[in-house]
Amino acid sequence: MKKLLVTGASGLLGLNLALKAADLGWDVTGWSGRRALARVPFNAEQVDLVNLGDILARVAALSPDLVIHCAALADIDKAEQHPALAEKLNAQAPEALADAARKIGAQLIHISTDAVFDGTRGDYRETDEPNPISVYARTKLAGERAVFAAYPQAAAARVNFYGWSPTGQRSLAEFFYTHLRSEHTVNGFTDVFFSPLYVGHLADILLKMAEQRLEGLYHVFCPQATSKYAFGVSVARLFGLDESLINPVALQELQTGTLRSLNLSMNTDKLQAALDEPLPGEADGLQAFHADWQAGLPDRLVASIA
Ligand SMILES: NC(=O)c1ccc[n+]([C@@H]2O[C@H](COP(=O)([O-])OP(=O)(O)OC[C@H]3O[C@@H](n4cnc5c(N)ncnc54)[C@H](OP(=O)(O)O)[C@@H]3O)[C@@H](O)[C@H]2O)c1
Repeated sequence: MKKLLVTGASGLLGLNLALKAADLGWDVTGWSGRRALARVPFNAEQVDLVNLGDILARVAALSPDLVIHCAALADIDKAEQHPALAEKLNAQAPEALADAARKIGAQLIHISTDAVFDGTRGDYRETDEPNPISVYARTKLAGERAVFAAYPQAAAARVNFYGWSPTGQRSLAEFFYTHLRSEHTVNGFTDVFFSPLYVGHLADILLKMAEQRLEGLYHVFCPQATSKYAFGVSVARLFGLDESLINPVALQELQTGTLRSLNLSMNTDKLQAALDEPLPGEADGLQAFHADWQAGLPDRLVASIA
């Protein structure tokens, strides 16, 4: 049985990925940070990644075949408030993990973000020059670069995704679902475009990328972009909720606080060619999101946190 180390295993991506990989027969170890995991079908450990000096020994002791590095300071407002911590977690920890993976001969898939782009143009390819506009984005870009400098054979996946999370509030889809179900009015941005994958599909694709031993940078997104407003309307229709509670508003008229990119539609041609199959579309993602809700996944995720 092949060994997989998932960092950030208490997060939205990491927990969904670790559960899926365990179901598929991987021997999974999930590292979380502050939150302990319980009742999960994999080996769970708490490892604080700010202790950079411990990373090599801990990875070597585990000796995984594959590392998928999902942990990050992923809250963009928190990153803005704590730039030194963001640098440590988003840039230096990935470098230390990449160095460790190379030294023990493990495959590495590092998780990065669409936010490395400023969002002025959209349809971004892997060859386009990034221009990060926040501390989060700058440190994540530094992380990508540090990973490839430490381990040129690594893979990095720039992602954006939604799904059910252990807090019930990490993803935009959960935001719309929770507020609309409580009959609260919310804003939906008509001028912010993104290409989010359903997290279950993202987990499948990351494992396929590992199987095919892909190296280098890949855009791992839904091939169709949508506005955040249209996405909210789709979530409302999926669950039979009142879509008129979503106010269509332009972020450009409201922008306060941390700057956010407007057009993060992403080009996935490179990944589709490498995998030699079409990526799941927007409707496929929403259907899977709904099916996992019907199957009780949200409760399973919430119950995974001790
Ligand atoms: N959500 C999105 O749409 C999105 C978009 C683009 C890119 N990404 C990237 O995707 C990855 C996963 O994001 P996510 O949304 O799943 O994030 P998340 O739900 O916020 O989870 C973050 C994870 O990182 C862990 N972590 C934070 N500080 C840590 C520390 N000091 N030591 C060890 N672990 C630590 C957290 O553990 P504890 O909570 O236990 O401390 C948690 O498991 C990140 O690399 C993020 O940058 C996400």
